[in-house]
Amino acid sequence: MSRLVIVSNRVGIPDGSARAGGLEVAIRPALKKRGGVWFGWSGKVTDGDPEAAATVVKDNVSYVTVDLQKDDYEEFYNGFANRVLWPILHYRLDLAEFTRRDLGGYFRVNEFFASNLEAVLRPDDTIWVHDYHLMPLAKALRERGHKNKIGFFIHIPFPPPEILTALPNHERLIPALGNYDLVGFQTVTDANNFSRYLEDEAGLKRLGTDSFAFEDRVVQVGAFPVGVETEPFAKLARRAVDTPFVRDVFTSLSGRAMIIGVDRLDYSKGIPDRMNAFERFLINYPDWHGNVTYLQITPRSRSDIQEYADIARQVGEAVGRINGTFGEASWTPVRYINKAHSRTALAGLYRASRVGLVTPLRDGMNLVAKEYVAAQDPDDPGVLVLSRFAGAARECTAALLVNPYDHEGVAIAIHRAMSMSLEERRQRHAVNYRALMRNDLSQWAERFLDQLERQPVEMPLRAGARR
Ligand code: UDP
Ligand code: G6P
Repeated sequence: MSRLVIVSNRVGIPDGSARAGGLEVAIRPALKKRGGVWFGWSGKVTDGDPEAAATVVKDNVSYVTVDLQKDDYEEFYNGFANRVLWPILHYRLDLAEFTRRDLGGYFRVNEFFASNLEAVLRPDDTIWVHDYHLMPLAKALRERGHKNKIGFFIHIPFPPPEILTALPNHERLIPALGNYDLVGFQTVTDANNFSRYLEDEAGLKRLGTDSFAFEDRVVQVGAFPVGVETEPFAKLARRAVDTPFVRDVFTSLSGRAMIIGVDRLDYSKGIPDRMNAFERFLINYPDWHGNVTYLQITPRSRSDIQEYADIARQVGEAVGRINGTFGEASWTPVRYINKAHSRTALAGLYRASRVGLVTPLRDGMNLVAKEYVAAQDPDDPGVLVLSRFAGAARECTAALLVNPYDHEGVAIAIHRAMSMSLEERRQRHAVNYRALMRNDLSQWAERFLDQLERQPVEMPLRAGARR
């Protein structure tokens, strides 16, 4: 088996800190199993010239990281990646702030990653690049002569061409994905959106259901929904409910039922809408007053970006309004926390919660939804209330699926979840749990890498292959 080199902007450096983000959570176990290299950003920003890449070796994985310079951090990370690609790929054209300078920074950092990778790469390595920060990386590597198998997986949604074409310079960016051998998405819809773009906008010739001719290569497209480590997570949750931390939280509830939300503080997660829905629930169902506590764990994310500061203010105001209006000296309806928690703590809290409230406005997958299901006690499970706009809704079909924009509908779903009979809870949980087992995280990387490694690197194409 060839060596695996994972490349992503965020690297799960094993420093023991609790960090939020599905990419890291998905990659870590896959890489641990096979061993290899994880290359990316150190998380540090330097003023002067960047230091040489730093390497930390732990178990069978080498973590190789580079610092970003201040301009790179602003233009690449805060700029094009998170102020243009993130909103547009999440269908939020209204929030995109494009500048040519940031686009330049984005390509510059992709070149910088490619040139630093040169020292790491061997000719027979399998390279697996992750997420929207690094779309042009394969092109940069190919231009340097690397003929390795290179796969790409995007953890976030991929919108239809009607939305994607609003991205300035999409013609330069999106077709460049053709330099990968395999491009993977979270859902079939996302994969189809990309295929439609390749065919209709970029004029690539379709060779088969899921393959296209790109220059003298073949690029394959597929859906590889990310899962969770279902049984290990269930086991972790069984253990975690008995830790002092979770017992303390439980005791502090004084017998009240708990609703839990866990999200990075990101506008895609729909937290203000969720607060409005919870408020609507308290207005419409006053019998629950004093009997329920909604715990929202929301680590801050990308705080240097204005839209993220705005969302922090909005959520803070909504929490203040709800607690001020409905709270009593002895009851705080919403507990709102900005600290990241360990996965053990989360597993225990999920299991101790009657309802998991996961209502993103748009989400590639949403691992919190799956973790909530995995963590439940099958004999007395809680209920998942899940946005239909999360990739996870394709698999967790027995959740109470909601439209997060419909606050009254979400309020009804919360009431229904809180009042659901044990029998119905068990049935719904069993269906969702089976879906998780069918698509466990352990199979995700294997499926992707099997397909990538099976496929021919180059296929000479005859005349007629249109570009
Ligand atoms: N997470 C965590 N600590 C926290 C909050 C979140 O470890 O305080 C983890 C969470 O368990 C999940 C991931 O971060 O595995 C978030 O992934 P998800 O797909 O839900 O959303 P993303 O942040 O990737 O958009
Ligand atoms: C999402 C993205 C990841 C990103 C993570 C945390 O999961 O898909 O690429 O790493 O959010 O965001 P951050 O900007 O802190 O890396």
